[in-house]
Amino acid sequence: MTIDFKKAGRVKEPALPITEIEHSAFCKSEDELPAKPLLDEIKVNIRWQKIPVKYLHLTAEELDQRLHHAREKLGKRVIILGHHYQREEVIKYADFQGDSYLLSQQAASQPEAEYIIFCGVHFMAETARILCSPHQRVILPNITAGCSMADMAPTGDVLDAWDDLEEVLGGGSIVPITYMNSTAEIKALCGRNGGIVCTSSSAPSAFEWAFERGERVLFLPDQHLGRNTGLKIGIDLDDMIVWSPFKRLGGHTPERIKSAKVILWQGHCSVHTRFTARQIEAARQRYPDIKVIVHPECTMETVQAADMDGSTEVIRKTINEAAPGSQWAVGTEISLVNRLAKNNPDKVVFCLDPIVCPCSTMYRIHPAYLSWVLDGLLAGEVVNEIKVDGETMKYAHTALERMLQVK
Ligand code: 13P
Ligand code: SF4
Repeated sequence: MTIDFKKAGRVKEPALPITEIEHSAFCKSEDELPAKPLLDEIKVNIRWQKIPVKYLHLTAEELDQRLHHAREKLGKRVIILGHHYQREEVIKYADFQGDSYLLSQQAASQPEAEYIIFCGVHFMAETARILCSPHQRVILPNITAGCSMADMAPTGDVLDAWDDLEEVLGGGSIVPITYMNSTAEIKALCGRNGGIVCTSSSAPSAFEWAFERGERVLFLPDQHLGRNTGLKIGIDLDDMIVWSPFKRLGGHTPERIKSAKVILWQGHCSVHTRFTARQIEAARQRYPDIKVIVHPECTMETVQAADMDGSTEVIRKTINEAAPGSQWAVGTEISLVNRLAKNNPDKVVFCLDPIVCPCSTMYRIHPAYLSWVLDGLLAGEVVNEIKVDGETMKYAHTALERMLQVK
């Protein structure tokens, strides 16, 4: 037996990330998700970050008072960024609301703020860390707020796959693209190997950019966004293969790998893969004039059955700007859908999925965690700072810079 020394030292992650297993923790059948005191929410059987006991008991009103007080005292030293999927009780404190791309841009354009508090998930806070100035410090209120999709592409597995692909294809013929929803290390791997980062809206331009530089694309970590994008730019379904990190050569023969144009990493979003073409059919039966809009992390069948697809920012804009009286069935995270419904009382807006399933990692940002990190700053202590090492930062920045150029 020959030992591959390059791979031997790499850490292999468990087959299914824990964040994926935890995803259904908050699913319920009523469609309101008001925050309860953290003590009650913490009973849900997922990993929570430990927090001083006093924060467990605070009511919504007490938290509100604390948060307002801290904000007032800290003034412009702090900015709070909120992703569209954050719950209402958190987003109301955000200075800026947006999709992951827009929020990173906001972080980079606020050099006067000493602290950037990112109410979102870990990869978003890391991206903000990479793009903002060195003197700024980025904080994620709950360190267990990860992303199950990003967790599906652990560094060791991706490095192994990259070595295998280079061995089969020879160097230089394949360009790696990673979706924003990936760790800084995966972004750095792309930067180091002539690749690029994309968002759900820039994915088609990133594919075109990559095909100007190589014959094939490795797309990480979301197979659905990769497949939907490939189809959008005219790539045949037969020319795309899925790379399983748990099988030798991703589950393919060298010949099949050589014949593929797009190699899709076997990752997915547990929130968006819940939406189905059958749900769309049911919505159309109930409302014959309904327009269906979904996020491109949904499966190919769902995206093709919908009227349109787009990033959270595109979904938000489309519905906000739609004609009064129009009807919308939406395939994205419930906190955003509920907010769109509330802000557009002259339209019918509802979630395609009748079971309410928030993104369980986004949902871990409870107002008590936000209060904890702000109180920390008042006391001169930086809680939950996000750091990225110099080498990773350099190459991830290269891949992000390329993304900004193709946008
Ligand atoms: P956006 O970049 O569209 O906000 O998507 C973020 C996300 O996590 C979608 O699942
Ligand atoms: Fe990750 Fe999906 Fe949650 Fe987005 S919605 S943060 S991709 S798990």
